[in-house]
Order: sequence, then C-alpha cells, then structure tokens
Amino acid sequence: MLKIDNLSVKYQDGNQVLRGLSLSIENGETVGLIGANGAGKSTLLMTLVGILLPLEGTIEIDGLLQDKKNLRELRERIGVVFQNPDDQLFMSSVYDDIAFGLRNYGMSEENIKHKIDYIMKELGVEKLQNMSSHKLSGGEKRIIAIATILVMEPSVIVFDEPSSFLDPKTRRRLIHLLRNVPMTKLIATHDLDMALELCDRVIVLKDGQVYAQGNAKDILTNQKLLEEAGLELPFCLQRIEL
Ligand SMILES: Nc1ncnc2c1ncn2[C@@H]1O[C@H](COP(=O)(O)OP(=O)(O)OP(=O)(O)O)[C@@H](O)[C@H]1O
Ligand SMILES: [Mg+2]
Repeated sequence: MLKIDNLSVKYQDGNQVLRGLSLSIENGETVGLIGANGAGKSTLLMTLVGILLPLEGTIEIDGLLQDKKNLRELRERIGVVFQNPDDQLFMSSVYDDIAFGLRNYGMSEENIKHKIDYIMKELGVEKLQNMSSHKLSGGEKRIIAIATILVMEPSVIVFDEPSSFLDPKTRRRLIHLLRNVPMTKLIATHDLDMALELCDRVIVLKDGQVYAQGNAKDILTNQKLLEEAGLELPFCLQRIEL
C-alpha cells in the first residue's frame, strides 16, 4: 500500500509545486495520475521514489515510512519509469541495461537470462537484446526503460508517461502486460484512452493538489471535470469531424 499524507514539495528556487497533497493506493491497484502540463505529476513521482525530498508530509510504502536513511530499502520496493528514457539507460547494451539491477541483487546469470528473455518476448522486442541502448529509436528506448523496471518486480511501480513514443502495436502490448502484472501501479499520463482501458481509479491533479479522484470511467467520461482541470475527454469519446 502507498500512502501519502499532506505532502508539500518545493524546488530549490522556491517554486512550491505540491501543496498538502494526500492520497492512498491499495495493493495491486492500477491508478492513473492525470493533469495538465505543469500540474505536478512528475514532481509527485520523483518525490515518491526519493529523488526529491518533501518539505512537509509523509510517504509510506508497504508500511515503511520514507526518510533520508531508508531510501535504499525504499527503492527496492518502488521502481520508477522516468518521463525521459535517457535517464534510465546507461549501459552499453540493452541486455546489460535490463540486467543491471538484477546483477546488483546478486542474481545468477542463468536466472537473469531467463527473466530477460521472458520480459522481452512479452513486450515483443526480443530483437533489440544485443543493440546498444543509445542507438535505439525513441519508442524502443521507452519500452526498454520499462523493461528495466518490470524485470526487477518491485511491489510498486510509478510510470511517467509510459506510452509516449510507442507505436500502436507496442502500446497495445504494454497495456496488455501492465494489465497482467500484479504490482501496484501509479501511472502519470496524458494518454487518457490508455488510462480508461487500464486503470481502476484515476486521480486528477491541478496546481499541485488533488482536484478529483474516483473510478476511471466516472472521471474520464466527465467532460466538465476534465475541462476544469485543463484536460479533454479521451480521444475515443470525442466526436471527430472530418
Ligand atoms: N527543477 C525545477 N525547479 C523549479 N521548478 C520546477 C522544476 N522542475 C519542474 N518545475 C516546475 O514544477 C511544475 C510542475 O512540473 P512537473 O514536471 O511536475 O509537471 P507535470 O505535471 O509532470 O507536467 P507534464 O505533463 O508537462 O509532464 C512546473 O510548473 C514546472 O515548471
Ligand atoms: Mg511530467
């Protein structure tokens, strides 16, 4: 379970982005985090994984209260897929990038290979295994960055725009895979169609605060609410005039 209570976060330049934000997510729940550009989604995710530290408030992950001293232990429980995949890939090959965290855990090379083969097959990207990560296309980088975290099997994963840059088929495979993995997921996204398909619940951020939350279908079909938060209906619910 992920529990955030009265969280406020300020950047070094004094810009206060999150203001007294509280929310909780049950084990195994898939929750969408939506909001206009600058609403504070990435800031919240960075704070959850300990990259930014709260000015005020508490974050609890599976009963462990986040503080400066237990960030290492915390990072074993919570994984993050960054908004920019270049922040995630730094080894010379895709295989080594995905193996990195597992090697740090001391897992045998045989088990690592087994896990990597499985995850790459599920995502339909087996062919990329021996490529160098920096030569990948934007979408390939994105899906490999996701694989580096999924393979670690943390109990909570936070995703920052996981479907951006993905072609429709790869996006579909990702949705399918995310639907079938048991982790607790918090997914910041502008892909409201994905949120509608994938998420149990949706939290709407506006100006660093929770503006609304509820069942994904209720929130994502509420045009008035979405517009108040600077958003629009998912594409699948918009009437397109050609
Ligand atoms: N390093 C920083 N220093 C100061 N302000 C920052 C910093 N990083 C982000 N901000 C500000 O914090 C606010 C929230 O940014 P954040 O990246 O969390 O938004 P977001 O909801 O993820 O937006 P997007 O949909 O564009 O990804 C923005 O107004 C941004 O300018
Ligand atoms: Mg962001």
